[in-house]
Amino acid sequence: MCGIIGYIGSNVESNLYLGLERLEYRGYDSSGMTIKRNNDFTTYKATGVVEKLKSTIKENEEFGIGIAHTRWATHGQISIENCHPHFSSNGSTALVHNGIIENYEELKDDLIKKGKYFYGQTDSEVIAKLFDCKLDINNLRRVKKKLVGSYALAIISKNSDYIYFAKNKSPLYIALGSECALIASDPSCFVGFADGYITLEDGEYGKFSQKEVIIYDKNDKIVKKQPQKLDFSFINEEKSGYQHFMLKEIYQSRLALEKIMEVYRSYDIKEKLKELKNYEFDRIYLIGCGTAYHAGLIGGSYMREAFNIDVFCEIASEIMYKNLNIDEKSLCIFISQSGETADTLAALEYCKSRGGIIVAVTNTEYSSIARKASINFPICAGQEKAVASTKAYFAQCIVLYILTSYLKGNDYILPLYNFKRQIDFGDDNILKTLAEKLAGYDKVFFIGRGRDYITAQEASLKLKEITYIFSTAQPSGELKHGVIALIDKSVPVIVIATDENLFNKTLNNAYEIKARGGKLVLFTTLNTDSETEKAFDYIIKVKKPEKDFMPLQIILSLQKLAYFTAVTKGYDPDKPRNLAKSVTVE
Ligand code: M6R
Repeated sequence: MCGIIGYIGSNVESNLYLGLERLEYRGYDSSGMTIKRNNDFTTYKATGVVEKLKSTIKENEEFGIGIAHTRWATHGQISIENCHPHFSSNGSTALVHNGIIENYEELKDDLIKKGKYFYGQTDSEVIAKLFDCKLDINNLRRVKKKLVGSYALAIISKNSDYIYFAKNKSPLYIALGSECALIASDPSCFVGFADGYITLEDGEYGKFSQKEVIIYDKNDKIVKKQPQKLDFSFINEEKSGYQHFMLKEIYQSRLALEKIMEVYRSYDIKEKLKELKNYEFDRIYLIGCGTAYHAGLIGGSYMREAFNIDVFCEIASEIMYKNLNIDEKSLCIFISQSGETADTLAALEYCKSRGGIIVAVTNTEYSSIARKASINFPICAGQEKAVASTKAYFAQCIVLYILTSYLKGNDYILPLYNFKRQIDFGDDNILKTLAEKLAGYDKVFFIGRGRDYITAQEASLKLKEITYIFSTAQPSGELKHGVIALIDKSVPVIVIATDENLFNKTLNNAYEIKARGGKLVLFTTLNTDSETEKAFDYIIKVKKPEKDFMPLQIILSLQKLAYFTAVTKGYDPDKPRNLAKSVTVE
């Protein structure tokens, strides 16, 4: 993970800090920046969230050249020593790195033998120590050849007016504005500074100043690249009156649906849908990680109902160990909000190498996954800042619903229009009261059948990632095969029941829990009778939409339940511990 930014221009400190705020979703274990002015460096570092860095920084309006980094720790603990930028032994070169250097131990041993001293434990410091020489293109090329692994690098020297860079597997973009030049892990850093940006490809390296960008390809040939237009619509910097981005983003699910309805009527998308239909495939794979995998499970349930072919839903980091039958007749749909998830990217390369038809469903059209796919379907959710994915999940499911409907030859606009009118975010008072109760427990179970079991998995992930309460999801019918042994009065069980055909069976499983003292909560879109109402300690009822949209309707209240529980426990739901928004390491 980690985010890097480099800036050449005036007000370097404050502009780098703004960039770090925009990149904080990539990690918030520590942050730092180094600025070069008058052939000397000034460095600021702090552990913890980016805000901790602010009080250390001395603003300076003068022209300068700077690099900055926000860290998600991989190698080495969270400490000032391991905080970027890292320095060459002679102190004249500083660099920031996103990625993992796989052969760093070997390189480090060699450098130690040559008498180099290491102040920290990171793989990134090893790269810095390889730069005990003049910073120029030849030396960058020489160092780059030694590195095995993933890297986005921005490097400055006390003696140069350029920022040097190199990219392999980790994302990296450059922008030239009218008064400044920038490099960053994410083009959102360029908003307000430039109108366009250049996307770097794997193996590319070079240098840039305020006036020029020089890029070499992986064969050491100079390449000319045209900037693409920066789309300003994805930025989401204000909480707009909400206490946290997570709550704002849950409510933005409706906006995402509206945007999808607009975009998926456009000529461009219709052409993409036609292209999809023209492929010949006899199997479908839906692949993602975490919440995106759960969206794949929902999409898979739509596709399995619609088509008479095999549909598989796979966790990206596991797909290569399963010896699956992936070939040119396999439609492989990769789902990723960020479009940069390393596990999903690796799975994409694996499926591509086997001849699979590669399609992406992402929220970031400039991302690596979107670019590597033959067709990218945007989810139009707008930037998602909270680490817990909410509106993106909702939008991913909607787009997978559209792909299914289109391939089946069904209209998708009218059902979506009807659903839009029925969206129900649940009753805050009941959800807050329930959250206050849940906050007092140290484990929570979720159960459901069919699609409700998928929702149970997503609701459980949401709760555990932001409240740190242990939680697991089980298919209702599976409880009695073992897990019921864990049920007693210390365990609340959240029952999700939105399918009328499965309602009674699920209720019976709920009664089995009740008989063993477990506390019961029901999340439903269905009518309940007095006997059911007596059995449950809480019932959260939301409006009943059409069957395919039940999982999307009910997840909104479950997302809010996780949110209110985290807030009750005093945690920041936007920045849960140990996590980052964009997981760019395997
Ligand atoms: O950017 P992606 O959709 O590829 O990310 C996948 C997962 O890392 C992500 O969904 C993660 O599980 C979220 N923190 C869940 O809220």
